[in-house]
Amino acid sequence: MILEVVDLKKSFGGNQALKGVSFSLGEGEILGVVGPNGSGKTTLINLISGVLKPSSGNIIFRGKDITNLSPNKRAKLGIGRTFQITRLFGNLTVLENVLIPLHYGVKEKKPDEKALDLIEMVGLKELKDKKASNLSLAQRKRLELARSLALKPKLLLLDEVFAGLNPSAVAEVSDLLKKLHKEFGFAMILVEHVLKALFRLTEKVIVLASGEVIFEGHPKDMAKDEKVIKAYLGERFAHGFVRG
Ligand SMILES: Nc1ncnc2c1ncn2[C@@H]1O[C@H](COP(=O)(O)OP(=O)(O)OP(=O)(O)O)[C@@H](O)[C@H]1O
Ligand SMILES: [Mg+2]
Repeated sequence: MILEVVDLKKSFGGNQALKGVSFSLGEGEILGVVGPNGSGKTTLINLISGVLKPSSGNIIFRGKDITNLSPNKRAKLGIGRTFQITRLFGNLTVLENVLIPLHYGVKEKKPDEKALDLIEMVGLKELKDKKASNLSLAQRKRLELARSLALKPKLLLLDEVFAGLNPSAVAEVSDLLKKLHKEFGFAMILVEHVLKALFRLTEKVIVLASGEVIFEGHPKDMAKDEKVIKAYLGERFAHGFVRG
């Protein structure tokens, strides 16, 4: 197992965002995490990446308890992430944005070459000298992926990479993820509302509702599960998200 999450709880004041979440993930495996707004998905990602500390419970990464490690240490062990709202340096170029983690994170011997490799891999080579603030949303997401790959993750946490993208950009980014996953073999946790794209990438999902796992299994069975329909899919179908 690359990751074991054991009875994870997180409260913000009186608000119990996670109420005892447990699951595990094998090396190279892809797990989808879905659920209604406010169900605790981003909180889960923040706890695994170390941005937040749990109220109780444990996070085991490759056999080591990392519950109390800083986000930096976790990144160095091989946990990479992207953010629901991209966190790039708008005034810096594409190349400079990728060079930052290479200089401060892994101390590559040839950071410029490595950065160019990563930029090429995500399809932004032509745009390497463009400022990040001038990129389209799909291009910013590609750039975030390049940055997260700089630290050679063994586990990549992706919070809504497809959100806000038009259907052709969704297909583009999901093909890119498939390619990167095949090439590097990292495990991935994908938090996603764009279910069609998610189901092309994974055969294993968990559904969170009000901070609890209400389903774990194959997407096909998920669509038939009464609890899931009630807590999540009913609302999704009503809004037409699944068709997209
Ligand atoms: N830093 C925080 N401080 C206080 N409350 C928080 C914080 N982060 C999340 N919460 C609360 O925890 C609950 C879960 O939020 P979270 O962002 O994890 O949901 P989500 O499933 O990612 O939702 P969305 O689909 O809208 O992104 C919500 O009630 C939210 O208001
Ligand atoms: Mg979220």
